[in-house]
Amino acid sequence: MEKGIFITDRESRTENKSSFWDSSYKNNYGLTLEPGPGILTLKKEFRTRNREIVRAVVRSTALGVYVMYLNGAEIGNDELKPGWTDYHSRVFENEYDVTELVRENNLFVAEVSGGWWSGRISFGVYGYKPCAFCGEIEIVYSDGTKEIVATDGTWDSTVCGPVLTAEIWEGEYFDARIPHASVTPEAHEWRKAIPFTDYSCRITPMIGQPVGVTGELEPVSSTVHSGVRDNGTTFGEIIVSRRKFGGECQTENLSRSEAVIFDFGQNMVGRPEITVISEPGTRIELFFAEMLNDSGDRSRGNDGPGGSMYIENYRTALSRNVFVTSGGLEKFEVRHTFHGFRYAEIRCDKDIRIISVRGKVIGSLLGESGTFSCDHPEVNALYSNIVWGMKGNYLSIPTDCPQRDERLGWTGDTQIFCRTGSYLCDNRDFMRKWLGDLRDSQEGFDGAYGDVAPRVLLGKEPNSAWGDAGIIVPYNIWLMYGDKTVISEHFESMERYMKFLERYGTEGAATAYGDWLCYDVTDKRFVSVSYYAYDAKLMALYSRLLGMPEKETYYLGLFRKIREHWTERYVEGDRLSADTQTGYILALAFGLVEGELKNAFITRLAEKIKENDYTLSTGFLGTGMMGRTLSECGLHKYLYSLLLQTKDPSWLYSVRQGATTVWERWNSYTRERGFGNVEMNSFNHYSYGAIAEWFYSGICGITPAEETPGFAGFLLRPTPDERTASEIPEGQRRINSACATYRSASGVITSGWTRYGDNVTYRFTVPKDTRATVGLICPDGKMIFNGADIEADELCGFRREGERAVFELGYGNYTVTINDPVKA
Ligand code: BGC
Repeated sequence: MEKGIFITDRESRTENKSSFWDSSYKNNYGLTLEPGPGILTLKKEFRTRNREIVRAVVRSTALGVYVMYLNGAEIGNDELKPGWTDYHSRVFENEYDVTELVRENNLFVAEVSGGWWSGRISFGVYGYKPCAFCGEIEIVYSDGTKEIVATDGTWDSTVCGPVLTAEIWEGEYFDARIPHASVTPEAHEWRKAIPFTDYSCRITPMIGQPVGVTGELEPVSSTVHSGVRDNGTTFGEIIVSRRKFGGECQTENLSRSEAVIFDFGQNMVGRPEITVISEPGTRIELFFAEMLNDSGDRSRGNDGPGGSMYIENYRTALSRNVFVTSGGLEKFEVRHTFHGFRYAEIRCDKDIRIISVRGKVIGSLLGESGTFSCDHPEVNALYSNIVWGMKGNYLSIPTDCPQRDERLGWTGDTQIFCRTGSYLCDNRDFMRKWLGDLRDSQEGFDGAYGDVAPRVLLGKEPNSAWGDAGIIVPYNIWLMYGDKTVISEHFESMERYMKFLERYGTEGAATAYGDWLCYDVTDKRFVSVSYYAYDAKLMALYSRLLGMPEKETYYLGLFRKIREHWTERYVEGDRLSADTQTGYILALAFGLVEGELKNAFITRLAEKIKENDYTLSTGFLGTGMMGRTLSECGLHKYLYSLLLQTKDPSWLYSVRQGATTVWERWNSYTRERGFGNVEMNSFNHYSYGAIAEWFYSGICGITPAEETPGFAGFLLRPTPDERTASEIPEGQRRINSACATYRSASGVITSGWTRYGDNVTYRFTVPKDTRATVGLICPDGKMIFNGADIEADELCGFRREGERAVFELGYGNYTVTINDPVKA
């Protein structure tokens, strides 16, 4: 930005909401979204010179979420800009080419709502301040001259509609009878804008991708209901007047005594776009839900009649849309908020005709970098659920959940899912940007990272596995993308964090969360000490990568010291006192044991899984590292048994309960008992979805290598489901084929295998200029390699690693058939 300053209107205000997480109420139909006075709107009318324009560019940002219009047309096709950064420190500048929109006489309008700056989601940490806009339009003429129309005191401002209320948690109230300032500016009263200076952030170039519409869904069914009938439960059940399935269901004549629930068939994040015909002044209200009440029974956690929308798990977030129509045929969609929902219910106070309903999916524009499928439909469903979790929770920042009164950058959730995220989409710059938010979270806290970033919860102490995200995320990004910048630009910050942790001796960070939401509790201090050791180990690696041998020695020393303390305190004979699945997973994942003891731990972990009847007992942490760790320890058969488990708790259990995204709890909903604890019951929480990393790295074997990060060289160690008949738990069957494609930083890698007859056939692609160290399970050393019968030891670089034949391959497509060890 060359010239623009922040400007606002004297009436732009933020209410001081003293209580952000008010436990005295939860979202319910008795609450209404009230119309406010409108939102901050800025206007500038300007003339261009009488010369040919070669280029016109808008550079802009806002304290709040903003939408801009030039001559009535919206500028840009991104959403919720400028996104969420720590407003104490920085706000992003956006840039748009508007050459096509600029004319001789121009009307520029920007509208700004509180968004992450001053909405309730900010928890008041940026103060209760007005919204503000800063921007400039640069016009370059063919004679080489340019002019800049920049925000200053000559701009006009007001607080006006049609967006009367806009709040991320609460929703948006839109009154179409109020003319839009970008079309009919004369309908509003304007005064001179005033400079806004009460901020501390710098305007910086945007890092990462903007938020945008990533897809569109159509409803799969509609249910019109009116009234409630007694069915012997607390709330009864809705009386359904008609139901429609498929393409026809979008069109509906809805009377004011009715409500219609549209099911998008998929828990998604974004907003509906509705097209309706109505009488002027009709009030149309949209409610959102991830689930429907199943019976009307309070004892099953229902909050309303059977078949109605289950909305109380949004807690204090109203998550509503209200549209007041101006009459006739109109299209509505909100622009200043987003919702997490599978169901949208429409109610109206006058009869309307609904012409169409679309679900616009919103998220950071990260694309999809991987595909995975196998011959097990429920695993494919789980994979799809995990992808949808990524799409909805990678929205400007990595969030815990997208629907209730949180949607925060919880650090633990972020580090747990980060590597999985890298397989599913290109999260390199997204995470680089977020690491900046994390650095900002240290300011004023002695170097301690926040539990959430941007830091809006002000607990002083970082918690283990949460604060430690600041050390762990860079590792994942470096490993997956081979980009050292993320380490070099973050190193000093990590050192500050490590310095902060010194105050706890060898205890590690605070223990508020531990193995969050686990079934079998792992000593929380054990978790902290383990993570602290891992931090030190990673710091030693970073020091080496950055060529700082002294620091490397220091951190290796620290690692050894913590490990010694850890061993003394937690190792009892050949077991851990933290004798849980998670206990052993952390010990093994972080390299805290070696040799015989390591083997003993692997055996014990296997026993723990078996004793637990091949179900999980892990929370966020154990589950997050389960795939990687069990795989590395050769326990892939156990992983298959856990993955294909359908009893509670397991990944497929929630699939069987109807999940279309990954849930916060293993039992967020069960057909047997109904809804889980409403205090924390999100149906779109990606942490447990971290297992998808193993779909790529274990099942299909596409694994990064520390020596050649970013897949410049990589491991290809596909691991078919080789459980023998006696090893397969009751009710399960083997996966017989799987295939993954991964658009890595070094090119597209594919890897798949199919079992047929007595053979397993592998197919893979090694991209140009890369090298794969392939390890195939091939005990007898015989294979058909691209059509030729060979002995494995004829392959380049052949060596044996247990049952695997390991060899080197360069660029090419390969088909290898091996005798199926299961059949041998
Ligand atoms: C969030 C979690 C988060 C946690 C901290 C919750 O309310 O939704 O995902 O990590 O708090 O324990």
